[in-house]
Amino acid sequence: MSGNQAPEFTWPDDDISRVPYQVYTDADIYAREQAQIFQGPTWNFLCLEAELPNPGDYKTTFVGEASIIVTRDDDGAINGLLNRCAHKGALVCYKPCGNTRHLTCVYHNWSYDLDGNLAAVAFSKGVGGQGGLPDDFETAGHGLQRLRIETYRGLIFGTFSDATPAFADYMGPKLLASIDRVLIKPLKVLGYHSQMLPNNWKLYAENTRDSYHASLLHVFHNTFGIVRPNMRGGVQIADSGWHHRSYAERVPAGDVEIDKEKVRSLKNQYSLDDVSLMEHVEELGDTVTNSIQTVFPSLVIQQILNALAVRQLVPRGPDRSELFWTILGFEDDDDALLELRLKVNNLVGPAGFVSMEDGLAGGLVQRGAVADPAARTVMPMGGPGIEPSVGSRVTEAAVRGFWKGWRECMGI
Ligand SMILES: [Fe+2]
Repeated sequence: MSGNQAPEFTWPDDDISRVPYQVYTDADIYAREQAQIFQGPTWNFLCLEAELPNPGDYKTTFVGEASIIVTRDDDGAINGLLNRCAHKGALVCYKPCGNTRHLTCVYHNWSYDLDGNLAAVAFSKGVGGQGGLPDDFETAGHGLQRLRIETYRGLIFGTFSDATPAFADYMGPKLLASIDRVLIKPLKVLGYHSQMLPNNWKLYAENTRDSYHASLLHVFHNTFGIVRPNMRGGVQIADSGWHHRSYAERVPAGDVEIDKEKVRSLKNQYSLDDVSLMEHVEELGDTVTNSIQTVFPSLVIQQILNALAVRQLVPRGPDRSELFWTILGFEDDDDALLELRLKVNNLVGPAGFVSMEDGLAGGLVQRGAVADPAARTVMPMGGPGIEPSVGSRVTEAAVRGFWKGWRECMGI
């Protein structure tokens, strides 16, 4: 570029199956995403209603890089507040969760109620009749910035934008129904884990929409029959293209013959000492054993056998992101089902055989991407469009749908 400022990024043509590597590495694009995607017309997962059972309960979370406080107030209502003091901008709340009457900034003790209203200012009347707030200072205009909130089936979503449609319209009926399918009863949080991903957040957003890789990268899945390409299943895609769900049904054990010429698979001598890892208790009214759903831009809703979880994707700079897992069960689970959920979640999570591999794959692309930012990926699987598919998951349609949504938000 010979010292000149780089031209503003534009997509080379209308083709959403070819992604310029620059979008994974460029600091200006990353900064623009904070405003136009995370603080744009999108619903961002914040936390679960089950994490805030009582008045005064709060939890801190993220929308993009922005720190957010979610509270339950005395009326039982959920509030989403930007975690930034109206005075000098310090984080008001630096604890992950708790119960409180007021949110008080440690810097100058400005204090807010659970709805984010400014309730008290230290030394507001000055000291000894001197100093203090001017008479025309309006506390009403200096609360914590509020997000719009919607809850759905125990999930709490927030948006900065007035332009975001109602959550049901945002998802569309098909993808809303697939949330209904999984979150059928009051939820119980069983635990958390998190992992740093050595890649731009969009590489993970792509990964979760990429049903093509599931049986190839995740050899354990394929070998022991959690996901194989010849299982019944399909890919649902919202009419907008923004959200998707990939699902598969395991046929009874022993009935699956894998074509070893076509599928990279471990040999038959491998077997599990603990076959309960593959156990599945049907509880959702169908025989689907693997269901991965996305909510643009940052949520994954997971059912793998009985392992239920939500995963929240948080960007940490152009080449880093962090994935927060909340492991779920239902309030009425018995001990055996609870143990089964945890066991399979450990298999899937960052210390197991699935998410570690997804983190590795994203990091490999990130390392490749820096070589030539103007070069492009190619994603031809399943044709150029974003149509859903029934019967096949060997498609990149949902990944292309993500890029449609990204370009619409970014105006690129
Ligand atoms: Fe994966």
